[in-house]
Amino acid sequence: MERFVLRGNSGCDLSVIESNGELIVKKKSRDESYNDRLYRQYIKQKNFASAVFSRTETYGFTVEDGRASFTMEYLNGMTMAEALRTMELSHIPVLGNVMMSVIPPDICRCEDANSAFRAKLASLEADQRMRDFPVSDAFARLRGFDWSWASGSPCHGDLTFENMILKDGQVYLIDFLDSFYDSWAIDVAKMLQDADLGWHYRYEGVLNNNLAIRLLCLKESMLAAIGERPAGQQIFETVYHTLLLNVLRIIPYCMDAVTKDWIDRQIIYLVHVLDKTEERSS
Ligand SMILES: Nc1ncnc2c1ncn2[C@@H]1O[C@H](COP(=O)(O)OP(=O)(O)OP(=O)(O)O)[C@@H](O)[C@H]1O
Ligand SMILES: [Mg+2]
Repeated sequence: MERFVLRGNSGCDLSVIESNGELIVKKKSRDESYNDRLYRQYIKQKNFASAVFSRTETYGFTVEDGRASFTMEYLNGMTMAEALRTMELSHIPVLGNVMMSVIPPDICRCEDANSAFRAKLASLEADQRMRDFPVSDAFARLRGFDWSWASGSPCHGDLTFENMILKDGQVYLIDFLDSFYDSWAIDVAKMLQDADLGWHYRYEGVLNNNLAIRLLCLKESMLAAIGERPAGQQIFETVYHTLLLNVLRIIPYCMDAVTKDWIDRQIIYLVHVLDKTEERSS
């Protein structure tokens, strides 16, 4: 029995249904062309194991009338994006530390990362839709970057604060993505896309002070945790280059003036951060 519907942006139908007295979520692809992607999402969620985040249980995957769907447990909690508006300030540094523990303790350089990132960059650079954005400095920076510290590791693939659900003090993950490459760097950059660049909150204009303070505190605690690592400088540079790449990857999907303005500002901000970092280390 369907109880209520949830809202996402992918076009999938998300409904909460009652099954044997329990609430479960059914995620159904918008059409046949989305079936494979939903299957990869289901497999990634099903196989996900992490010392940091809790698992959202998946149940079955089926295809009915050409549309794929899978079911999972319903988490009666709050998305991280919403929870951060009112979270007790003293809890935030702990949260930042927990989030940064997705970085494996023993990262080392890995040549595969360079080929994966460079291929992604080249396909993006060839996209005509880049023309309307101030991308030349950004591409110049990214082309010259050595991505080898972005070693391969298990990763969610789209770790926005909307895809993290806080329930009973635990963080659960949903909406996994089979991305071009699996690395901790992809997940850390996605978390900073919300914490530092305010991606989720971009339509709100000037942020409410309570939220702005919490985001700043979270970002600072994330950066402090990165800074404590032996390879802290390399991690920082890898993550901020990945963040710049993420912003460019949004361009082909940009449909409105607020997002365009957000992208323009973030490119300038990130190129500036990376310029300053280079100046400091030279
Ligand atoms: N298992 C769940 N338990 C509780 N809430 C959920 C669950 N799955 C999804 N939601 C809610 O529905 C929202 C959209 O879900 P999801 O991210 O899977 O959809 P989507 O269409 O892929 O979204 P988008 O493309 O916007 O990320 C989530 O942000 C969350 O608020
Ligand atoms: Mg989502």
